[in-house]
Amino acid sequence: MNKVTVCDLIKMKKDGKKIPVLTAYGYSMTKIVEGAGIPVILVGDSVGMVEAGFENTLPVTVEEMIYHTSSVVRGRKKALVVTDMPFLSYQVSLTDAKKNAGRIMKEGGAEAVKVEGGVTIADTIKAIVHMEIPVMGHIGLTPQSIHRMGGYKIQGKNRQEAEAIIRDAKAVEKAGAFAVIVEGVPAGLAREITKTLSIPTIGIGAGPYCDGQVLVIHDMLGLFEDIKPTYVKRYVDLSAIITTAVREYIDDVDKGRFPGKEHFYTTGSAKKPG
Ligand code: KIV
Repeated sequence: MNKVTVCDLIKMKKDGKKIPVLTAYGYSMTKIVEGAGIPVILVGDSVGMVEAGFENTLPVTVEEMIYHTSSVVRGRKKALVVTDMPFLSYQVSLTDAKKNAGRIMKEGGAEAVKVEGGVTIADTIKAIVHMEIPVMGHIGLTPQSIHRMGGYKIQGKNRQEAEAIIRDAKAVEKAGAFAVIVEGVPAGLAREITKTLSIPTIGIGAGPYCDGQVLVIHDMLGLFEDIKPTYVKRYVDLSAIITTAVREYIDDVDKGRFPGKEHFYTTGSAKKPG
């Protein structure tokens, strides 16, 4: 795999090649995910839920996103790293938005940022893109709007709502975004958006017709049990595997099987016991 850039994603859409995206938040997981061949890593503000235990993504700060981004960047070689701009880092003013996007790139080492929203955020996307910072959009179910939406609910279920989301998609593209996450909408609407846009759509809970798919790594590995969305495919139950390993360790320590003679040093100046 060559170094992946935002231009490659647009080419992948043109070539009809699906784009797999996963989240990662730290060095070790990034090395595994990239080693397996993932071309795009999203440092999502979902970190606040799956790593910090918050109920939603709203408490996450720019400093935390910079910290996680720099950990991910140290672990990857080729994958494109896109970082979420957290709640309140881009909604208040264009100046804030530009400064915070710049910090995430400069201090974190991200290669693109992601912002949630459509028509209402188009000027912000334009302003960040004018700074030569690639922007990924995020429309449909936008987790930072959880209180307005009244929960994590499917969006665009009737034609009026669907048309508003299509307007969002077009606004995001026109503002200069290089790709857009489409979350929590009916598959038919995601297909319509994907056909309408020339930039790639990356779906989550949006069916099979998007140009790519994204999942939260903790969900697909079975590491996060608090919420289990129906759209997630669990590829492995790591919680169960880790539980078995930890129980074995506890038992080994209890019975004196760990450390075994291969796990400690026998040379040195310490007195022989007894
Ligand atoms: O924060 C995140 O991980 C995301 C994905 C769910 C798309 O925004």
